[in-house]
Amino acid sequence: MTQHRIAILPGDGIGPEVMDEALKVLRLLAEKHNFEIATEEFPVGGAALDATENATPLPQETLEGCESASAILFGSVGGPKWENLPPDIQPERGALLPLRKHFGLFANLRPGVCHPALIDASPVKNSLIPEGFDVLCVRELTGGIYFGTPKERREEGGEQIAVDTMVYRTSEIERIARVAFQAAMVRDKRLCSVDKANVLQNSVLWRETVIRVARDYPEVQLSHLYVDNAAMQLIRYAPDYDVIVTGNLFGDILSDEMAMISGSLGMLPSASLGSPDDDGLNFGLYEPSGGSAPDIAGQGIANPIAQILSLAMLLRYSLGENAAADSVDKAVEEAISAGYRTGDIFSGLETEKRVNTSEMGNAIVERL
Ligand code: IPM
Ligand code: MN
Repeated sequence: MTQHRIAILPGDGIGPEVMDEALKVLRLLAEKHNFEIATEEFPVGGAALDATENATPLPQETLEGCESASAILFGSVGGPKWENLPPDIQPERGALLPLRKHFGLFANLRPGVCHPALIDASPVKNSLIPEGFDVLCVRELTGGIYFGTPKERREEGGEQIAVDTMVYRTSEIERIARVAFQAAMVRDKRLCSVDKANVLQNSVLWRETVIRVARDYPEVQLSHLYVDNAAMQLIRYAPDYDVIVTGNLFGDILSDEMAMISGSLGMLPSASLGSPDDDGLNFGLYEPSGGSAPDIAGQGIANPIAQILSLAMLLRYSLGENAAADSVDKAVEEAISAGYRTGDIFSGLETEKRVNTSEMGNAIVERL
């Protein structure tokens, strides 16, 4: 029997509650699909700040635990309690960014899916998305303005000056473009590259490089948008898009916009992947797109679907357990079709059953 090791990092807010539901799903899948799972839990984010003596959001023990695993299943980090700490040790910045960099997780896959049964939850008019939409945002995650140097604050001419540097090199653009083209190949074969090539030098290089990589994927229809226009077009008619590929900062912004128009932050998973090994499997970190939602934490009402779908992505990309991953996607689909709704996706229709976190988890487990 294959044995997989997964590092579990529940984190803060609703993280631990939704993680419990994902672990229920995982235990049943291991039984049904005949693989063995070794999970080990580690503190991260605010939970780690509170638990460690030297107050770090990413303790060494957690990092080492992740190093010896095939994948990280991540909950969420952050909350008002830690908001006023120095930026470098704040849960989000001090844990997530170093994890991404340390493990070389350069490819961030963020599906923006508006399920046809949930179009009422979207702030976009029903008439614009009559059948919902399914867009995959492929965001470069370890380069660009997040990590470029110099990155500093200093005094100059008697005032403060702050500098961030947006840097992309050909190799970085090329590898993320390949991830996006390959994703498009198994979807609708349409790829839109988003940049700001009318202003930024690194965007000119971005566009040139994407066009060059496109020669290896002649079946994929490639288009380009400036990021400001992309922000408009996504709201105007999201179903026009299949896969979007973009840099770190633009992807951060556009993926939030996509999450908002999909109407259900609690439904969207994400995967942050490194380069595949010889078997085509990636080390990865998998987390819900939504945050720690401190406003509803501890009440047992959060939507566990994003965490459960993140587990499905983990099964697919890091463990190669594709049948198990498919069954999770299908079970979620069926629970939605059967009318199960947590508060965030409940619109008051008679066909809907309003449920809490563990009831939604159970509805999915029953359908596996
Ligand atoms: C995200 C988050 C992070 C980012 C923050 C918390 C550092 O917004 O994953 O999108 O900007 O990448
Ligand atoms: Mn973000």
